[in-house]
Amino acid sequence: MSRYPTTVSIREVGPRDGLQNEAIVPVAARVALIDALSGTGLARIEAVSFVSPTAIPPMAGAAEVMAAIERRPGVAYGALVPNLRGARDAIAAAVDEIEVVVSASETHNLRNVRQTVAESLGGIADVVALARPAGVAVEGIVSTAFGCPYEGDVAPERVAQIAGHLIDAGCTTLGFGDTTGMATPTRVEALLDALVTARVDLGCVGLHFHDTRGTALANVLAGLERGIARYDASIGGLGGCPYAPGASGNVVTEDLVHMLHDMGIATGVDLDRLIACAEQAQRLVERELPSAMLHAGPRTRLATR
Ligand code: COA
Ligand code: ZN
Repeated sequence: MSRYPTTVSIREVGPRDGLQNEAIVPVAARVALIDALSGTGLARIEAVSFVSPTAIPPMAGAAEVMAAIERRPGVAYGALVPNLRGARDAIAAAVDEIEVVVSASETHNLRNVRQTVAESLGGIADVVALARPAGVAVEGIVSTAFGCPYEGDVAPERVAQIAGHLIDAGCTTLGFGDTTGMATPTRVEALLDALVTARVDLGCVGLHFHDTRGTALANVLAGLERGIARYDASIGGLGGCPYAPGASGNVVTEDLVHMLHDMGIATGVDLDRLIACAEQAQRLVERELPSAMLHAGPRTRLATR
């Protein structure tokens, strides 16, 4: 028996997760995209990451981006950080939310942040200790939560165990990332079951899907059926790496909003404005983005001939 939430909160991650995997976009254009997105009704935007510019060149200039954007009331601007230094810089830039990340698989964690999972979890407690007195919320994200490109399947129980550590470390919300699009609806259900068994409150859970294998919207539906009301999505489907064949971006924000609205689920987002943002994103990266709304348009747009 499904129990869809009546309202879903979407976090737009295109400016970070999307653009970090695209050719470098100048700061001014990143600012313009974030400002356009904040005008659509989206209440949460992952704007930047404070990471090594050597590791992720397109995310250089995060402080400049944060200083230049219009801080629209009611919109929470978030930043991903890999370490304490990033957290300090994020707090100095007055972000509303910090995201810390740990992979469910050792190999991916080592490659992504050059630390073991245990080292990352220790560092996350330090980030929370810094952020909490500054009034900045910390979300703990488990990446490769549905499978790892190096290690293959990841046991849901292991993901749930890491989630428990993140809560113990002081994270107030949790995200589960399907980093390379390995999830299917059955795996989403299995993870949510494992979280319930581990007594993780599903009310603080957000899901983050990539559409690498075409399953992102189906995975969202699996989450909705379990009452999950927080999803990440990327405008136009920004993301994936032009140099890594087969990689692809997050579930497309405007396609997700289109589906949810037709299902009677409110998002607070204006679809037409969102489609205009997707056009803007497409111009920025100078390639065709995989957005159904850009290609086919909404189902209510009638054929004229
Ligand atoms: N912001 C900016 N620069 C940073 C930084 C931060 N948060 N943390 C470290 N650096 C710099 C260091 O100053 C150093 O610069 P230098 O080479 O000019 O001296 C360089 O990055 C390497 O620092 P080091 O501490 O030796 O780290 P490392 O080489 O082991 O790399 C990370 C570790 C975590 C800094 C790096 O892998 C990283 O930023 N990863 C982010 C990955 C990511 O964003 N993935 C996608 C999201 S899941
Ligand atoms: Zn991602």
